[in-house]
Amino acid sequence: MKVIEVKDYNEMSRKACSIILDTIKQLDNPILGLATGSTPVKMYEYLIEAYERGEVSFKNVRSFNLDEYVGLSKHDPNSYRYYMEEKLFNHVDISPEHTHLPNGNALDLEQECRDYEEKVKEAGNVHVQVLGLGLNGHIGFNEPGTPFQSRTHVVDLADTTRRANARFFDSIDEVPSKAITMGIGTIMESDRIILLVSGEKKAEALHKLINGEVTEDFPASVLQKHKDVVIIADGGACHRPR
Ligand code: F6R
Repeated sequence: MKVIEVKDYNEMSRKACSIILDTIKQLDNPILGLATGSTPVKMYEYLIEAYERGEVSFKNVRSFNLDEYVGLSKHDPNSYRYYMEEKLFNHVDISPEHTHLPNGNALDLEQECRDYEEKVKEAGNVHVQVLGLGLNGHIGFNEPGTPFQSRTHVVDLADTTRRANARFFDSIDEVPSKAITMGIGTIMESDRIILLVSGEKKAEALHKLINGEVTEDFPASVLQKHKDVVIIADGGACHRPR
């Protein structure tokens, strides 16, 4: 694992943006794995700025998001489809058919998971996967205890995760209790992974990820076994308070 320590959130976002831009420019049909949450927001803003400057086109880009809540429609401002359209897709020339998120409203969720997995495989696997880090070490919505070989599946969200995400909803009761997530096995098949970590509250989790044992109790620890992981972390995340 390569750890790049940067000054702050903006620098983390700029660095992540430049890795994505290089990937898009180098490949004929780049496949991006994308994340939602607070961490990548600024990275998406920088990507939009690069597009507006004419530096990059998303015409040939295909994207697969990590996860989606179960039970929210794509018009719900808290759905990850809505987030992606708002934060990136509506502002660049990516074609809507090239953007993929699990459908959390599918009638048969198990079938939806199998279909999503199949779509990733058919596309030929993700070239660069962007990840954020959960306080309990989750990646995607793979909570502690998820098998490392897991494929796309339906999850019960941990209370800590629902509480952490409640800030986007009117109350914690509105936070869905289930989601669909790419599995850890699926994520690990990406050619390259960039993990973005910002702020002191993530410092403990980052320390555990880099120095702790590789265990399903702390899902992100699996990244120690991936051949090409770049961690971009800001000063707050790199230094644990004493
Ligand atoms: C989001 C995702 C999650 C987040 C993680 C960190 O698609 O899969 O694993 O990356 O919960 O969230 P933030 O960035 O809000 O701290």
